[in-house]
Amino acid sequence: MKVAVLGAAGGIGQALALLLKNNLPAGSELSLYDIAPVTPGVAADLSHIPTPVSIVGFGGEDPTPALEGADIVLISAGVARKPGMDRADLFNVNAGIVKNLIEKVAAACPQACVGIITNPVNTTVPIAAEVLKKAGVYDKNKLFGITTLDVIRAETFVAEAKGLDVTQVKVPVIGGHSGVTILPLLSQVEGVSFSDEEIEKLTYRIQNAGTEVVEAKAGGGSATLSMGQAACRFALSLVKAMQGEANVVECTYVDGGSEHAQFFAQPVLLGKNGVEEVLPYGAVSAYEQAAMDGMLETLRGDIEKGVEFVNQ
Ligand code: NAD
Ligand code: LMR
Repeated sequence: MKVAVLGAAGGIGQALALLLKNNLPAGSELSLYDIAPVTPGVAADLSHIPTPVSIVGFGGEDPTPALEGADIVLISAGVARKPGMDRADLFNVNAGIVKNLIEKVAAACPQACVGIITNPVNTTVPIAAEVLKKAGVYDKNKLFGITTLDVIRAETFVAEAKGLDVTQVKVPVIGGHSGVTILPLLSQVEGVSFSDEEIEKLTYRIQNAGTEVVEAKAGGGSATLSMGQAACRFALSLVKAMQGEANVVECTYVDGGSEHAQFFAQPVLLGKNGVEEVLPYGAVSAYEQAAMDGMLETLRGDIEKGVEFVNQ
């Protein structure tokens, strides 16, 4: 497996690269790219860690050398929020960055599975899809918006609130990755029940956890370490599934034929070629159904913005 990280010198990129260097299967290759000239140095630094994962780093204007032969491409290149900003405020800068990088992906490694971290994910993933379509290489089973951070937050907050073993808690999170489009399905958490007040508080906290970190970092950026962990979890699941492991399921934002929107995050069975099957998210409570109904206009608008950006 060759895994390329674009944006590798950033807060997420460096954390993710460290985790992948330590956790990818033996014999894997890790390829780092960032426009920041420090990137070969980040790779040199990580290369001194004694794990059987080779690593190389590239700077400069063109990611192509980092992409050649990649099986998985993870993209965290772009700008992050500061207090007072919404994820949608990142669109003006990040839309163009994702578009340009995906054009390079389409040329250098069109067969690769691509995981997008760069915000606003609800919009950058449709941008990637449109660019890949224009290049004639779009495979909807190989494009993912990485929403795993919402899942690990939900697991952490639920375990804390209910005194559970966090390693055993599972919470599906569906919809998208911003504000009201993040919908944790607390009604599906096994072995616990929540009061209406707990559901409201936990749902609000999970939806606004990114802002919690942005405010706590006070102008120093957004979540990087927890996101590195989340992206690593997603990438390792994808690697396992691509190498033939069965029953690997993650919630992720895909072009999966949802009745709700062209792109929708929900549980996905991963396989050798990316998406094996988009799984039904199951029964939802009346509270969750109302939240779903309330998010769809926003989510569809976010998607449309991405499609228009590429086709304008
Ligand atoms: P950061 O500023 O620390 O790092 C971004 C990196 O991208 C920098 O090193 C920069 O040099 C690089 N970069 C910029 N333009 C580039 C280009 N054209 N090609 C290659 N590299 C380029 O930011 P960060 O904290 O790592 O966050 C990165 C992105 O991830 C932001 O958009 C942020 O909002 C998003 N994010 C998403 C999630 C999620 O759940 N999906 C979670 C946290 C952050
Ligand atoms: C997050 O959820 O932490 C990220 O999307 C970053 C942000 O801007 O909130």
